[in-house]
Amino acid sequence: MRRAVCPGSFDPITNGHVDIIGRASKLYDVVHVAVMINKSKQGLFTVDERIALIKEVTAHYGNVEVEAFHGLLVEYCRQRDIPAIVKGLRAVSDFDYELQMAQMNIGLSGVETLFVPTNPTYSFLSSSLVKEVATWGGDVSHLVPEPVLGALYERLRKP
Ligand code: PNS
Repeated sequence: MRRAVCPGSFDPITNGHVDIIGRASKLYDVVHVAVMINKSKQGLFTVDERIALIKEVTAHYGNVEVEAFHGLLVEYCRQRDIPAIVKGLRAVSDFDYELQMAQMNIGLSGVETLFVPTNPTYSFLSSSLVKEVATWGGDVSHLVPEPVLGALYERLRKP
């Protein structure tokens, strides 16, 4: 069984994430989506909410498993016998940090990182930008799956 992991914060999942997960799901038997818990970062959505949204919008792939993890990504991989991390690269600006993490991860445990070029439609897209634009009433309907759009409107609705 060939396994890979797509890790991230997914606060919330965007169309860019879905594109990478979908492409990875064609290359591997099972794609694990790991919502990495960072206790020092206050999210807009709880980890359980993020997981529920990711499950909903990736269910049609049929080979995607979603769960949260608190700890090192390489430890997540070791526990599940996952040899590969799949990451989207949006632009050169992503490369420096992603390269550092990839080199650290292979040095720590031998887990490979594979970079997938992001669909140019989503090269500017990030969860942070989506939240900022949505907070100020901008239209993000083309940037996130429909269930995420509903959750964003619900969460950001003024009292
Ligand atoms: O969506 P993000 O916030 O850009 O994802 C970053 C993430 C969660 C993939 C990265 O911070 C990570 O792998 N965190 C887990 C802890 C860890 O393994 N840190 C060492 C990385 S070399």
